[in-house]
Amino acid sequence: MKISQRLQQINNMISGHYDHIWDCCCDHGLLGMLLLERSAARHVHFVDCVPSLMQALELRLQRFFPADVSGLNPHLDPHLNPDIDPNLCRHTQWQVHCLDVVALPLAQTSDKDKQLIIIAGVGGELLVELVRAIVVKHPERRLEFILCPVHHNYYVRRSLAQLGLILQAEMLLEENQRFYEILHVINNRNDDGPSISPTGSLMWEDLRGEELALAKRYLQKVINHYQRIPEDKRPHSIINAYQHQLGCVTGTILS
Ligand SMILES: C[S@@+](CC[C@H](N)C(=O)[O-])C[C@H]1O[C@@H](n2cnc3c(N)ncnc32)[C@H](O)[C@@H]1O
Repeated sequence: MKISQRLQQINNMISGHYDHIWDCCCDHGLLGMLLLERSAARHVHFVDCVPSLMQALELRLQRFFPADVSGLNPHLDPHLNPDIDPNLCRHTQWQVHCLDVVALPLAQTSDKDKQLIIIAGVGGELLVELVRAIVVKHPERRLEFILCPVHHNYYVRRSLAQLGLILQAEMLLEENQRFYEILHVINNRNDDGPSISPTGSLMWEDLRGEELALAKRYLQKVINHYQRIPEDKRPHSIINAYQHQLGCVTGTILS
């Protein structure tokens, strides 16, 4: 299956094992299928609000990950593959949910379960609305999110910080001349991690070579975008923040 670098990068950012991974706004479910293939969680949930998409996905999953196989990934079964350490044997089940992400059925899972919620490929405003709804509905739960908005990264970051989420990891990616920021954040204040900076932080550390060139091109592109906004509506404080960030990245300003 042809999968974008962006979705592959999200897949690469998921380490460790989860009880539940929710591939929200999953569309054709490509990311969730990558996760299912490598048994990244006990349950992989596919969530989207378009019924025809979800019906087609359910059929595809039944074909490629049939029920008996979905219960146990044969590649990781020590009875079928003697090279496998029995401790690594994992049960991975999948479920398709045709619903609005605001109604994510987390209450059906245990409080103790380790949860990762992925929302990628939607606009920043919708993404914030979905994260806010989930966090507000489940304030007591420890929830990890991997988020990759299309546009509005400054607004997304500021909103996530206002919601009290903290940063685990972040990265910048360019694909087909588009830039994407990917954020791994968590809603538990007891976890260690820096607060979320509106212009980015961890992703600008120790840049060299290609990565440094990419960062400069991206920050300049964002600044140019905001500078094209008519003067009376131009967000000068945001432009200043990105100019400061560009200065820090290029070493002309000490951070
Ligand atoms: C462009 S696709 C993103 C696919 C994939 N996540 C990616 O990053 O490539 C956006 C999907 O979000 C779904 N969507 C938008 N709003 C939603 C909501 N509130 N609840 C569930 N799905 C939603 C749409 O139906 C669509 O399939």
